[in-house]
Amino acid sequence: MKIAIGCDHGGFELKQHIIEYLSGEGYQTVDFGSDGADASDYPIFAKKVTAAILSGECELGILICGTGIGMSIAANKVDGIRAAVCGETFSAQMARAHNNANILALGARVIGPSLAEVIVDKFASTTFEGGRHARRVGLYDTMND
Ligand code: RB5
Repeated sequence: MKIAIGCDHGGFELKQHIIEYLSGEGYQTVDFGSDGADASDYPIFAKKVTAAILSGECELGILICGTGIGMSIAANKVDGIRAAVCGETFSAQMARAHNNANILALGARVIGPSLAEVIVDKFASTTFEGGRHARRVGLYDTMND
């Protein structure tokens, strides 16, 4: 599975850690920046990661900023993107199983690297259950009708 990953300055260190972790777990990652800890604007990286998912280049994405909140808000503005901020593994599992989330947002100032690893692992290894959840997820697209 190929995972797109992006961050701002707040998430840079954790992004590097997660890329290394995922590669050790056998996942392929595509790094969309940022490339350093200099101040940067997170929507720029959210846009790159969402584009990689919509084009089919990557199946899932991970976006990391200070809290995960700005990244998730920015990503969820894009049609077809379902981003979930998770600070523990149960939400990461449910975000995939029930919400078919295609982006995991993490807050590098909220959680540490070891917790981030198990959250990422749960998110990447859980599949969407479909069924009644597919109907509900389908309704996301009607929110502006
Ligand atoms: C940057 O200081 C910070 O606002 C950003 O990383 C993120 O937490 C926004 O939601």
